[in-house]
Amino acid sequence: MTPLLEKISSRSAHVVVMGIGYVGLPLVAELARAGFRVTGLDRDPRKVTALAMGESYIDDVPSSDLAPHVKSGRLAASTDPAVLAGADAVIVCVPTPLNKTKEPDMRFIVDATAEIARHQHPGMVIVLESTTYPGTTTEVLVPKLTERGFTLGKDVFVAFSPERVDPGNAVFKTRNTPKVIGGATPACLEHAAALYSAIIEQVVPVSSTETAEMVKLLENTFRAVNIGLVNEVALMSRRLGIDAFEVIRAAATKPFGFMPFYPGPGLGGHCIPIDPLYLSWKLRTLKYQARFIELADAINSSMPEYVVDRAAAALNDAGKAVRGSRVLVYGVAYKRDVTDVRESPAFDVIHELGRRGAAVDYMDPHVPEVHEHGVDLRGVPPDAGFAPYDLVVIVTDHRALPRERLLAEARLILDTRDSLRGVPGDRAKVHTL
Ligand SMILES: NC(=O)c1ccc[n+]([C@@H]2O[C@H](COP(=O)([O-])OP(=O)(O)OC[C@H]3O[C@@H](n4cnc5c(N)ncnc54)[C@H](O)[C@@H]3O)[C@@H](O)[C@H]2O)c1
Repeated sequence: MTPLLEKISSRSAHVVVMGIGYVGLPLVAELARAGFRVTGLDRDPRKVTALAMGESYIDDVPSSDLAPHVKSGRLAASTDPAVLAGADAVIVCVPTPLNKTKEPDMRFIVDATAEIARHQHPGMVIVLESTTYPGTTTEVLVPKLTERGFTLGKDVFVAFSPERVDPGNAVFKTRNTPKVIGGATPACLEHAAALYSAIIEQVVPVSSTETAEMVKLLENTFRAVNIGLVNEVALMSRRLGIDAFEVIRAAATKPFGFMPFYPGPGLGGHCIPIDPLYLSWKLRTLKYQARFIELADAINSSMPEYVVDRAAAALNDAGKAVRGSRVLVYGVAYKRDVTDVRESPAFDVIHELGRRGAAVDYMDPHVPEVHEHGVDLRGVPPDAGFAPYDLVVIVTDHRALPRERLLAEARLILDTRDSLRGVPGDRAKVHTL
């Protein structure tokens, strides 16, 4: 057993989690719970200050999972990369966004790797969790981390393990979601698997870091393509005069060979709209066009504008123009019951309604104000009346949506989520995708 494996096995290893956001913070909590000494390292002083006080800022992590470990001294937080010098294991959970031309923005991974290399010592395991294109670990991390004479699989152990966190999922959390791991060498895999086995019920070893990177992209591409498919089913059904949601719900009664996905106002969140484009970008460098991904992206990206077209049609049926109408967008979070607004289609819907001359407010019990994508608005209170609006557009179907009151008060509704089905009231004013 190597000294590092011994430290992992005895829980005396010091683990630094780089990037304590949606992915990093749950890991910090699990590592501390398992008995490791953990430091959350982040550039954002607000997150570091909160964690240092044992306060969570992520919906799925209760502060009670952090505070006792902070108190016992096992859990710390820092903005100073120098803490890496004392790390036995580093888990990298930094962002992987797209740039303006929808290409991978690798700055955060490159910078994080450089910071680790600056403080590197022999006997460290470094695992990348950020979603990225196949090849990143061996092309970006390994060269940098072996630059100063460290031997891969001996002095430094490098692996990739994709994060699968599903914000808001009450059943599957970090601990009980199987964890795929690929190592740069068999010894790298062994060390990374030892670390994760201490905190996660089931680890799934795969043969390489590229395979592990591709697993994550397959999972998210699967969702993006299936959502693209059902969004197109919605577009086709409208032309055919059929209710797409009814079709999908009926198809979902088939006990085998079908998995329901539902149409909506467009993709949101940090993963599904972005990750497949990492794969298609990589394939373009290899002179291959990832056709399913690009088609799904084209359909999914067109949905917010389609929503506004449907809003215009609903207003038109009521003898009104978009220009001059008062419209309330219900929900700016990208999905039900979360506070996260990243990549939310609500912003495109709000922009486009405004561009066409509507006066737009929003209501979201989970998001009191927004300053994103050029939208700076305070939400109207969740108990505000719906009657003053010419149209209410449901973009996010939070459980808190007052369905019966909405149906009773609103003059006109565009329900992009099929969330009013079965609610008693005047169905004539409800329009769908
Ligand atoms: N949010 C999800 O549901 C989810 C799910 C699966 C995978 N992922 C992937 O995980 C990665 C992280 O996503 P996230 O949602 O946690 O992002 P996030 O923005 O919530 O957190 C990332 C954190 O990294 C910090 N950071 C950036 N550079 C740093 C550096 N050099 N040193 C220390 N900290 C640094 C940022 O300040 C930020 O707090 C992304 O690649 C994402 O695609 C996210």
